[in-house]
Amino acid sequence: MCGIVGYLGYKAIAPLLVESLRTLEYRGYDSSGIAVYNNGTQNINIYKATGKLQNLVEVLPADLLMEPPIKNLQVGIGHIRWATHGAPTVENAHPHHGHHGEVVLVHNGIIENFAELKQVLQGKGYVFNSQTDTETVAHLLEDILKSHQHDFLPAVAELRRQLHGAYALTMMHKQAPGKLYVARQQAPLVIGVGNQGEYWVASDVVALVSYTNQIIYLEDGQYAELSEEGGVKLFGPDNTPVEVKIHTIQTGPLTIDKKGYKHFMLKEIYEQPDVVRNALLERITSDTSPVFIANDTPVSEKESVSIASLSQDVDRVIIIGCGTSYNAGMVAKYLIEELVRIPVEVEAAGEYRYRNPVLNDRCLVIAISQSGETADTLEALRLAIRSGAKTIALTNRPDSTMAREVGGVINVRAGVEVSVCATKSFVAQIVALYLLGIMMCEHRGVAEKLAELPELKKALLTLPVLMEAMLSNVDPLQKLARKYGHYTSMLFIARGVCFPAALEGALKLKEISYIHAEGYSGAELKHGPIALLDESMPVVSLLSDGAVFDKMLSNCQEAKARSAQMISVTNKAIPHGYENTFDDIISYPACHEWVAPLLGSIPLQLLSYYTAEFLGKDVDQPRNLAKSVTVE
Ligand code: M6R
Repeated sequence: MCGIVGYLGYKAIAPLLVESLRTLEYRGYDSSGIAVYNNGTQNINIYKATGKLQNLVEVLPADLLMEPPIKNLQVGIGHIRWATHGAPTVENAHPHHGHHGEVVLVHNGIIENFAELKQVLQGKGYVFNSQTDTETVAHLLEDILKSHQHDFLPAVAELRRQLHGAYALTMMHKQAPGKLYVARQQAPLVIGVGNQGEYWVASDVVALVSYTNQIIYLEDGQYAELSEEGGVKLFGPDNTPVEVKIHTIQTGPLTIDKKGYKHFMLKEIYEQPDVVRNALLERITSDTSPVFIANDTPVSEKESVSIASLSQDVDRVIIIGCGTSYNAGMVAKYLIEELVRIPVEVEAAGEYRYRNPVLNDRCLVIAISQSGETADTLEALRLAIRSGAKTIALTNRPDSTMAREVGGVINVRAGVEVSVCATKSFVAQIVALYLLGIMMCEHRGVAEKLAELPELKKALLTLPVLMEAMLSNVDPLQKLARKYGHYTSMLFIARGVCFPAALEGALKLKEISYIHAEGYSGAELKHGPIALLDESMPVVSLLSDGAVFDKMLSNCQEAKARSAQMISVTNKAIPHGYENTFDDIISYPACHEWVAPLLGSIPLQLLSYYTAEFLGKDVDQPRNLAKSVTVE
């Protein structure tokens, strides 16, 4: 959600800020802006534009994009916005400046008491030019600076005392031209360290890896001053100096490249066979137990926590997540309950964090998050940690806040996912959860379940080849998208372990094509949703071979009897007698019942993709969404 960058050093600053913002563009894309200290005029110049980052590039003066003519220190900050307070306009775009232009800053998060603060500041004569909560911070900081003789660090301490809410701030002070200031409270912020006093700042390490692998992770409540001569002066929540720890991360420069695909989403769908291979690599063979490699994380000093030991001696598993990650947890619930015979609850993190859940040290809480930064999941995880539960973060970002705070980390290894619409991370999360389920089953030793494991392991290992076969023929899905793309509403139904894949299919469709879609258990249809059905509402049914195949066929019949257009995505031949039930049939390979949601999700992803493309939507950057939801 929003992206922050900052730089202090001798490189051409505007291109550097823009390129760093480009790596974060998938996180928010309503508007963008940069602020650069001008060594000549000794002012901080601000440039902003609405829409895509390219619009910002077009308003930048040509000389700013060139190498600095003399070796002057360059200092600047940048921001890419996902609007919370105020529409995506130039006025609301960051950076924001204080009333007297003394302070310029960028912000991620939400200042919860901004309305009260704004009222007080307006009473003092401060004039607001935007509807943002952020502008309040800029004015407030200037106001505080007046009573602190323009001494910035004590002013930041006072600012922190007055602000309530979440923020990652990167700030410039006109009177301290060679310095950058940063502060973090419940929103991620990292500092990159270069050679000889060169520093970067970013809300995500992804923006820095092209420049440095030396990273300082700010913790909640910390703030810092960066300068060439003074280095990093870091302070804790109690305003006392904190020792700076620099982590060497292993990730090299990332190429954020569509590799010839029209959209990142399509590229990421096609990456799934390799993602599954990678998720299984060195973790499982057909006749060995799963192992999660200790220190499978770039946070080098992280204890090599044994996932095996964390998952032992537990009576309950609680899975928390949001959106697609929640749906992946739902799939795992079916498998873990079946194989391990302990109760598994799957909870939407945003609700869970405000409940008073029953948790103790016999509970294993698994937080699933592609980004590892989702605010609701992070807070729900912190609640679990405080309650004494055993905790695991299952994340695609083992350098994330969740990974750093939690007991054990499972890296889902999907690789950078750029498309806002998650695809490959969903599949990789399920594979990692299945490995965990198998591991727990083997430790628990439920005899008749152990006998089922070799087949399941084999099924997982053959997944990539089956996926490749499916991805080699997408014509039927393109046709389907053209046929159904003009409908305004669709239902997705499935049962058993495929039911969560129906939820995910509906989420994909609504997210990028803006067609209303809901996922239901086929069993639930007649308890309400069937009232919606007529010829105007197609029903996509995920029909997988196994215990509930016949039940699903009956549910499909019931829907057809209400004149719904019926689309079946199935891995089993439709039996005689049901020829007229389905208007369209998409077949996928026969497979083990447990891996059906993994394979069955692929046609649903492609259906959403081709529908959105057919409708001319912005597939990778759907309206109103952001890749990583770091605010409540
Ligand atoms: O990074 P996380 O996995 O925690 O993100 C959770 C959701 O915001 C995310 O899965 C969202 O639902 C996706 N955009 C769906 O495609």
